[in-house]
Amino acid sequence: MSRIHEALKKAEQERAATQGGAVQPSFATAPVADPPVFTETPADPAPAAPSTARVGMPAFASPFSIDTLLARCPQRDWKPDLSTMLFMNDDDSMRGTEEFRTLRSRLYHMREKMTLKTLLVTSALPKEGKTFTSANLAQVIVRQHGRRALLIDGDLRGPRLHLSLGTAAGPGLSEYLQGKNDEFSIMQRGPMENLFFIPSGTGIEDPAELVGNGRLKILLQRVEPLFDWIIIDSPPAIPVSDASLLAKACDGVLLVVRSNSTPSDIARKARQEFPDQVLVGVVLNGTSEEAAPYARYYYESYKTPTPAKS
Ligand SMILES: Nc1ncnc2c1ncn2[C@@H]1O[C@H](COP(=O)(O)OP(=O)(O)O)[C@@H](O)[C@H]1O
Ligand SMILES: [Mg+2]
Repeated sequence: MSRIHEALKKAEQERAATQGGAVQPSFATAPVADPPVFTETPADPAPAAPSTARVGMPAFASPFSIDTLLARCPQRDWKPDLSTMLFMNDDDSMRGTEEFRTLRSRLYHMREKMTLKTLLVTSALPKEGKTFTSANLAQVIVRQHGRRALLIDGDLRGPRLHLSLGTAAGPGLSEYLQGKNDEFSIMQRGPMENLFFIPSGTGIEDPAELVGNGRLKILLQRVEPLFDWIIIDSPPAIPVSDASLLAKACDGVLLVVRSNSTPSDIARKARQEFPDQVLVGVVLNGTSEEAAPYARYYYESYKTPTPAKS
């Protein structure tokens, strides 16, 4: 059984246990305590992207440094929701922060074996934690010195990232995909150093047409050299095709499964939407707000990575 299947099975078992009135596993018995999976390595590998000096892509082959280029991005006054944006306040010990550090570490390990810079965060259904996961993952990445991340709201049907970050929804991705704006005018800078954000944009009429029109790939190719990671929040995978379209432009897909909530057959169906090569892991978002907020939100399992793309 693949580790992805193990993770899905685990989610199913937990769901069954809860429905049967059983006491939920305590935090200590959750897989968070499993050292081989969750122990963070002392030092993550160095950033893969050039974070200083010159940009290597033809689009940016210029005498400008990356910092000079990014200085063109508008600075916005974000007012983040501090109860769910875990790394935007002074309290580094909030529940969940450690699990995001572990996730970050695991992704760096994956990246040693495959091309992995653009990552789509998706799930089967709405309200499973895609936005929560993508936003906090991007934040924990830039917490490491010199790492630069771009967070993109790719959920053009139900954009919420701008609400979590407390900023304007546009101009953003939809304006770029319609050819109205360039990349620098849609990438916002907020209060967190090295974290950039492309909101969904506004006035979106045909999301599937927009994400499938080929311009997303161009955008990612143009901005890739500027960042260590690009994290894309997506719409749910089951009801609409947008997530599959977005995945085609990404190196990897992270599937969020909400513990005690996502039916296992639905989770499996979502998993089948993505080819094996791109599915890098499953996040079990098992929050029970009333019982133990954040405590068990995360379990991950990674498949054997596939070779790097040429
Ligand atoms: N682990 C968690 N702990 C606390 N709140 C969470 C957690 N995961 C999700 N939420 C909250 O649940 C709601 C739905 O999550 P969200 O990330 O928006 O789901 P999705 O993007 O899959 O629709 C949001 O209010 C979010 O802040
Ligand atoms: Mg969302």
